[in-house]
Amino acid sequence: MARARELKAGERPASAAGKAAALLFQHPSLRTKVSFDLAVHRLGGHPIYLGQQEVGLGAREPVPDVARVLERYVDVVIFRTSSHRTLEELARHACIPVVNALSDAEHPCQALADIMTALEHLGDLGGIRVTFVGDGNNCAASLALLTVALGGTFAIASPHGYHLPEGIVQRALGIAQETGGSFRQVEDPAEAVREADIVYTDVWVSMGQEGEAEKRRRAFAGYQVNEHLMALASPQARFLHPMPAHYGEEVPPGFLESRWSLAYEQAENRLHIQTALLEAMLAW
Ligand code: CP
Repeated sequence: MARARELKAGERPASAAGKAAALLFQHPSLRTKVSFDLAVHRLGGHPIYLGQQEVGLGAREPVPDVARVLERYVDVVIFRTSSHRTLEELARHACIPVVNALSDAEHPCQALADIMTALEHLGDLGGIRVTFVGDGNNCAASLALLTVALGGTFAIASPHGYHLPEGIVQRALGIAQETGGSFRQVEDPAEAVREADIVYTDVWVSMGQEGEAEKRRRAFAGYQVNEHLMALASPQARFLHPMPAHYGEEVPPGFLESRWSLAYEQAENRLHIQTALLEAMLAW
């Protein structure tokens, strides 16, 4: 994160000239695709975008073969998939790094940019208090794990049936025990945001969940982050959203431009944190 801030301030990254990165994406993306592509360029490397139509991962050819072929050409695979199991399978069969660019289970690069944005606002991360309001999804999981790893306090308010997976809860509790952080899960957003430094939300209906859109909208009614909810948080609290936003659902129209929001800064920080990440992996 320190390195990402240096890069954001204008320091030149080390060179990864001659290195190549495959951007293997099974789903659409704006932020992740553009920021990783630019990050590889900034390091002097060569990014190669591969959509699902071209590769047919698991359909046109099996995952292990894709891994064994890509490792002969490139130095890192940046992979977006709806199946964390496929991500692990690809990583198991490749002898090069595989970066999670979003799976159904986690979105760790997003969480790094989220916490970097919080750090810029707060000045330091000691005792950071993060509250997530909404679906216990991949963004919430990675944010929970990173917050407690830093010794911070993580609270999440989700309706019944949409809590974080038990495996993530147990990992978060275990990490918190080691770091002095804390983790709690409630159903009342007002209770969860009390004293939060960062209030965070994400869409109620993610990619691939369109079939259950109406059911989800009913379940999440009352979980919108708006000015009334922000008024219950710490007076210095700021709002984060990984984007894209569904205005009128998890946030009111225009809320990403409100005085609380750091969402566009957060989107920019994807570029800096991922440049730092790839520099550590490739520039040697
Ligand atoms: N936040 C995020 O991952 O955005 P994209 O889906 O546009 O990459």
